[in-house]
Amino acid sequence: MRICPTKQAVREFTRETRQGGHSVGLVPTMGYLHDGHLSLVRTAKQRADKVVVSIFVNPTQFGPNEDLATYPRDPDRDLALLEAEGVAAVFIPSVDEMYGGAGDSFVEVPGLSGVLQGALRPGHFRGVSTVVTKLFNIVQPDVAVFGEKDYQQLAVIRQMVRDLDMPLEIVGAPTVREDDGLAMSSRNVGLAPEDREQAPALFRALVAAEEAARSGPSIDSLNETIRSVLAQASRAKVESVDIRDAGTLAPLEGILQRDAVVLLAVRFGGVLLIDQRVIAPALMTA
Ligand code: PAF
Repeated sequence: MRICPTKQAVREFTRETRQGGHSVGLVPTMGYLHDGHLSLVRTAKQRADKVVVSIFVNPTQFGPNEDLATYPRDPDRDLALLEAEGVAAVFIPSVDEMYGGAGDSFVEVPGLSGVLQGALRPGHFRGVSTVVTKLFNIVQPDVAVFGEKDYQQLAVIRQMVRDLDMPLEIVGAPTVREDDGLAMSSRNVGLAPEDREQAPALFRALVAAEEAARSGPSIDSLNETIRSVLAQASRAKVESVDIRDAGTLAPLEGILQRDAVVLLAVRFGGVLLIDQRVIAPALMTA
C-alpha cells in the first residue's frame, strides 16, 4: 500500500495506475475508520481496479463551536485497517499540504447546502463541497464512494458533480449499523456509556416511521410517531426531524404519497448523531 502525504505523490500514483490500464476509485474519509468506512472501500473495490482512500480531517467544514480539536484520530490504526483491506494507496495530507498558499476560492451548491443540516451548520457544506472538489482534482478518480448515512452530503455532492460536469461517477453505499441499530460513525466513540445505551433510539424511530408509512399516514403524524420514539431516550436532545422528498429534499406536506427520506439530527451530550432512512408510501390500489 502506497502512503502519499503530498498531492504530487498521489497524482503520481493515479498517473501510473492509468498508464497500467487500471481505473481508480476514491473513498474520501476523515479517518478514525470503522466498519462503515471499510464497507465503502469494499464497494469501491467492486467499481474500480485500484482504490485510494483519503484521510483528512477537513477544518473548513467545522464551525467555530464544533468538535474539530477533539475529532478522534488514529492514523496508525487506520493505515493497518486499510492495508488489510487491500487498499492500493492512502492520501494523508497535512492541513498545510491541502490548504497552504490557498486563496479564498470555494465551491458552493447553494440550494441544497442551505437547508436542513446546512441551516444548522452554516458553511459546513461549503467546506465539504470545496474539499471534495479538491480531492477529485488531486486524485482524479473514475469513481468516488460516499456513505448514504450522510444523505444530504451525498445529495450536495451529486448535484455539484452534475452541475459542474465533473468527469467521475458518484456511488452511494448503504449505512452500516451496530447490532443494536446505531449507525456506525467515528463520533460514536465520544458518547458517554449512558448515551451510547440510548443512542439506538434514532434507529428505532426510523423503523417506526417505515412501519407507519405503510398505512398511508400524513407527514404530521409521521413526525409525531418519530418524536414519540425519540422522547423515550431521556438524554437525547432532538435537533431536527425532517421528512423530505427522497430525490430533491423538498419539504413534503399532507399524506405521504412518494418516497421520502427521514433525516434525524439528535444530540447526546457534546455528540451530534445523524441518521436517515428512505421510506416508501403505502402501495396505491386502483
Ligand atoms: O463524510 C466525511 O467524512 C467528510 O465530510 C468528507 C466527505 C471526507 C469530506 O471531508
